[in-house]
Amino acid sequence: MWTLAALLLLAPSSGHAATLEKPTLSLHPPWTTIFKGERVTLRCDGYHPLVLELRPISTLWYLGHLLLPSHGKSIEVQAPGVYRCQTRGAPVSDPVHLSVSNDWLILQAPYAAVFEGEPLVLRCRGWYDKVVYKLHYYHDGQAVRYFHSSANYSVPQARASDSGRYQCSGTMRIPVESAPMFSAKVAVTVQELFPAPVLKVAGRAEAGGVVVRCETRLHPRKRSVPLQFAFYKYSRAVRRFDWGAEYRVPEAEADELESHWCEAATASRSVRKRSAWLQLPGRGSSLDSPTAALAPQAAPLAPGNKPLSFRKSLLSTSVPSVTSVPNTTSVGLPVPAARAPSAAPAACAPPTPLEQSAAALKPEVDLLLREIRLLRGLLSRVVRETKDPQTFPEHGATRETPHGPRG
Ligand SMILES: *[C@@H]1O[C@H](CO)[C@@H](O)[C@H](O)[C@H]1NC(C)=O
Ligand SMILES: *[C@@H]1O[C@H](CO)[C@@H](O)[C@H](O)[C@H]1NC(C)=O
Repeated sequence: MWTLAALLLLAPSSGHAATLEKPTLSLHPPWTTIFKGERVTLRCDGYHPLVLELRPISTLWYLGHLLLPSHGKSIEVQAPGVYRCQTRGAPVSDPVHLSVSNDWLILQAPYAAVFEGEPLVLRCRGWYDKVVYKLHYYHDGQAVRYFHSSANYSVPQARASDSGRYQCSGTMRIPVESAPMFSAKVAVTVQELFPAPVLKVAGRAEAGGVVVRCETRLHPRKRSVPLQFAFYKYSRAVRRFDWGAEYRVPEAEADELESHWCEAATASRSVRKRSAWLQLPGRGSSLDSPTAALAPQAAPLAPGNKPLSFRKSLLSTSVPSVTSVPNTTSVGLPVPAARAPSAAPAACAPPTPLEQSAAALKPEVDLLLREIRLLRGLLSRVVRETKDPQTFPEHGATRETPHGPRG
């Protein structure tokens, strides 16, 4: 009878399985590698139904495919393997891999994903916490830091470029100084907080002008991180960092939409990324179809093309931003391949045939004039920037110094 009652209480919650969040499995202390004989605590945080249970079996624990006999919210373990947990009615947690080592040296890395902008701490530990001397940390085979004796490797604000395989080496006095010993290699992944934004036309503003939107997507686990946005025309900030992903380009400047770009950043600027130039899907038709997607492959043409915190750019970071401006003139003008050849003459194409009536010619001439205006604006900009790069401090101010040896 009791069993039946318990099942009835269980039934409603199990029906929600698909919509419940996975529980979060955490490791305390947070390292994925421990020495043989050490113990760590696993904790399972997640949904616990608010029903009166006759026999509260709140948590299930798995080591590999094995169901462990514990049902507590936390358990102490010392065996290596892949651990998972599950709370009532919810899916199974993400796995945590625990390694147990017999080596003299272990490199301890955090079990949980480190996101861009967060601190990354790696810890080289000697057997039984013996002091490690002549300690080197290696990143993808390169020595990146040296310490006279035991110290952690820490990066205050991790970047995607900090991902890779880490290792440490050092000597121990047991009791005489040993030869250098090496830890096993440990893979570390720094997760992208959000991808580089894309600047898109959102539509016409009621007050006149064009609304552009700086679009990006936070990692699902970081949806609550507030982002700020800044908007630029060429290298000039037209709206400094603030909340709100939209900016209204005044009517008078609506012909120069392609000279705009944006930046998205965390409030502390720990992560900061810029978009490519706004690219209209097709000259002349863009404002009528604002939903047309912008090609992300425009990224290599980004102003300065220097994602501020995430080095994935195709061009070298030392390319001065002005060199990309001539390219944008050629981006704005060609007729998109998908359009009918007669729809929009390129700036340098011969005029449409004379036998066409003046009325038919009118929109074409308007388009041509617009393109000439845009071209003129861009060219005068190039000339000014080439003559006097100092008057455009925005690039210098936002450029990071390349990562040197950390320390
Ligand atoms: C390394 O970091 C851990 C955890 O943050 C800390 O407990 C430990 O004392 C640090 N070790 C050294 C040598 O600074
Ligand atoms: C941009 O311009 C440079 C030099 O003017 C040229 O080498 C490069 O190929 C151009 N890139 C594109 C995508 O047109």
